[in-house]
Amino acid sequence: MKVLGIESSCDETACAIVEDGKTILSNVVATQIPFHQIYKGVVPEIASRKHVEWILPVVRQALEEAKLTFDDIDAIAATNRPGLMGSLMVGFTFAKTLAWSLNKPFLAVNHMLGHLYAAHLVNDIQYPYLGLLVSGGHSIICKVNNFDDLEILGTTVDDSVGEAFDKVSKFYGLGYPGGVIIDNLAKQGDARAATFPVPKLDNKEHRYDVSFSGLKTAVIHQCDMFWNEGYEHSKENMCAAFQETACKTLTSRLFRAVEDTGLTTVVAGGGVAANSRLRSLLAERTDLNCIFPPLKLCGDNGAMIAGVAYHFLKRGDRDGWDSVTCARIPQFKRGLANFANRNKN
Ligand code: KG4
Ligand code: ZN
Repeated sequence: MKVLGIESSCDETACAIVEDGKTILSNVVATQIPFHQIYKGVVPEIASRKHVEWILPVVRQALEEAKLTFDDIDAIAATNRPGLMGSLMVGFTFAKTLAWSLNKPFLAVNHMLGHLYAAHLVNDIQYPYLGLLVSGGHSIICKVNNFDDLEILGTTVDDSVGEAFDKVSKFYGLGYPGGVIIDNLAKQGDARAATFPVPKLDNKEHRYDVSFSGLKTAVIHQCDMFWNEGYEHSKENMCAAFQETACKTLTSRLFRAVEDTGLTTVVAGGGVAANSRLRSLLAERTDLNCIFPPLKLCGDNGAMIAGVAYHFLKRGDRDGWDSVTCARIPQFKRGLANFANRNKN
């Protein structure tokens, strides 16, 4: 079955066609970064307008690259949440209208389920496993029982990890989006240059939770306080020390979850899963089977949406023409998150 998946939750207009949840026939991602760069962050109004402008050409290109026509497509899917409301609405309404006019099934897909599925597009992964979902909006450690059955063990209590990368980069004028810029600068720096404070969320209630707001504040406003003697005050050193603390904050909680659950497979997803230090820290744990999506599938894309949709489709799920978008994930609390009820706001 061929599914056409549309993703427009933030600043990428994306469309992909995926066969049987596995074979990527085309994967077009039109990034709006240059339009937001001058504002040092995503401007929601610009994002929605660019999606309106680009959605049709991007979908056409996805069909052309796959050498297919609409007749060859079995179902249409789109991200329904979470994300920027205006941006979500463009891709979602476009997809729904397309499905209605072509008389094809329509599927709404949670963006975070998409990020988790990205690694499945190129790997055969058995459930259950531990998921590490790290993006610009979320930091989630979860037990994954099935493609839409997640048990949230921990989340951030304040900023997401991607947000911390972006804000540190913005403050120091390094550029937008900050993650990949800091990652690259950190390669030329020494992480021992500063010892930033690590969050002390050690009580039972926060056993798997992370926090990045304190780290962000320390790096931005109190950098000197945490600097170690003998190290040059360079942006490379600052990036390396910040990145080290951010990544170890994530892995310390993840490894706790590994010990407590006994699960040894870890699947990462989301933009921050592209981070080279996060990858190397997990690779050091040779007792674990850590699976990352290829770099191209870490960021937002339509293939991950089409991939998840295939499994809904196979199960017989369909979404109605009255289904809507939502900026947040309401189930985004510790405990069971039944993403199957994906249209219940
Ligand atoms: O998943 P994504 O593309 O969009 C959201 O769903 O939010 O994630 C974007 C986030 C941004 O915060 C970006 O700075 C971060 O992912 N990111 C990285 C790297 N590449 C992208 N963070 C750290 N290291 C990277 N190499
Ligand atoms: Zn994303």
